[in-house]
Amino acid sequence: MEDKKIAVSLRDVSKRFGKVQANSKVSLDIYNGEILALLGENGSGKTTLMNMLAGLYFPDEGQIVINGQEAIIANPRDSFKYGIGMVHQHFKLVDVLTATENIILGLNGKLGKKQAREKIVEICDKYGFDLDPDKKIYDMSVSEKQTVEIVKVLYRNASILILDEPTAVLTPQEVEKLFNVLRKMKADGKAIVIITHKLHEVEELSDKVAVLRKGKYIGTLITKETTIQEMTDMMVGESINLDIERPDPVNPKKRIEVKNLSVVSDDGLKKLDDVSFDINSGEILGIAGISGCGQKELLEAIAGLQKTCDGSSITYIGDDGSKEEIVGMDPLKVSRMGISFSFVPEDRLGMGLVGNMDIVNNMMLRSYRNKGIPGFVERKEPRKLAEDVVNELNVVTPGITTPVRRLSGGNVQKVLVGREIASAPKVLLTAYAVRGLDINSSLMIYDLLNQQKKKGVAVVFVGEDLDVLLALSDRILVMCGGKVSGIIDGRTADKNKVGLLMTKLGGEE
Ligand SMILES: Nc1ncnc2c1ncn2[C@@H]1O[C@H](COP(=O)(O)OP(=O)(O)OP(=O)(O)O)[C@@H](O)[C@H]1O
Ligand SMILES: [Mg+2]
Repeated sequence: MEDKKIAVSLRDVSKRFGKVQANSKVSLDIYNGEILALLGENGSGKTTLMNMLAGLYFPDEGQIVINGQEAIIANPRDSFKYGIGMVHQHFKLVDVLTATENIILGLNGKLGKKQAREKIVEICDKYGFDLDPDKKIYDMSVSEKQTVEIVKVLYRNASILILDEPTAVLTPQEVEKLFNVLRKMKADGKAIVIITHKLHEVEELSDKVAVLRKGKYIGTLITKETTIQEMTDMMVGESINLDIERPDPVNPKKRIEVKNLSVVSDDGLKKLDDVSFDINSGEILGIAGISGCGQKELLEAIAGLQKTCDGSSITYIGDDGSKEEIVGMDPLKVSRMGISFSFVPEDRLGMGLVGNMDIVNNMMLRSYRNKGIPGFVERKEPRKLAEDVVNELNVVTPGITTPVRRLSGGNVQKVLVGREIASAPKVLLTAYAVRGLDINSSLMIYDLLNQQKKKGVAVVFVGEDLDVLLALSDRILVMCGGKVSGIIDGRTADKNKVGLLMTKLGGEE
């Protein structure tokens, strides 16, 4: 095999933010014609390291060597000059502009818009992107926005492409498409770095795996020669048990009865179509389905946040057998009844947390809602809650008074999920709870959900990873196109069958 050329070398690169040593003396080589997966727990310094190549941060010490020469990357423009392009965890596009306008933004236009548009179409044809160059960003899905970001990088002839958790926001089908594009780029000789927490993706896509732990470079492995267990152990620094537990249901009783639930969106689309099922206490009900099949609307309806069609009914059944109708109820009242709802959005700061507020204040947003004493804000309890969440979930943060936007992506999310769990609910509705979380933190969240189940909480878990759903759930409700296509026993469920139910109404067609 021919020797591949090094595209970029990082040599003893360090970066500190106040008290946090985000990277310390990291040395890493990135090769042309290779896909390198950059792995590490939340807060281990992956984004920071790559941001130094993108010109967003400047190293405190160390060198970046490109084509054998030291490169000074003081800003994103320098980074482009060196052929580096990065697609960030949070996109940086201008909403009111079209794809084409965004792509040429900041290049004091050698090409007119029409020629630029032609070049964009060419790039899309070459790599197989599905992109309308004239579409405005605000009309785009997350996956389309990501495509714009990637085409933008290619338009600038980048030879080194860095993607920061690109798959966290994509459906399995979109992930497959992206991977095919990345493979084509690799075949073109480009150097590709992908940050991801999904170890199956690392196995499927990458040639090599570089591991960071607590800001330090631990080593590089050849993907074909390693295992998920070895990668995890290297990230964490000790041997981790990767098994997901499934304790027996605890005295399950019907907690919520959903009957003939239908939801129509503002633009007249049927999002939920005559859905009926039960949610039991002391049990985890997993919900499987491709993105947009109605999971979101379902959870929102139960939380009192969705307008439902006539004839829909969601009944809450109390410990004493008393019944209350949730449809039409004020969401605040639903929340006070002990129905807790956390939906981790694609943009983790977009919903549920306020980036500029500290952890304590973000806790208060929730506990204040629970107590509902107007005009009176008790700060002690949220402080305790914040401390508990930080300790129990190992949130990496300088303190509980740190603004949430300063935390790494995964740690932001632990705060979001932890807050809901800490509110001691009767019903815990959670969607995408582990989106963006490292494997160890994910296992911790599954553990927390199991603990809630053992306490008798009715847990509803919407997840993207089928393997996890099959390992964790007592029952799995499979949705397809707004309908329930099956409810199966998690202990005996077959992965292929669930997959089929997700894409068509099993057996009925
Ligand atoms: N601008 C900043 N100001 C202060 N601290 C920061 C800043 N950016 C990152 N940090 C801190 O540096 C450390 C590394 O963060 P970084 O975002 O690089 O982690 P990461 O490996 O990308 O994590 P994740 O997987 O959660 O995205 C964290 O402790 C984080 O809180
Ligand atoms: Mg990151």
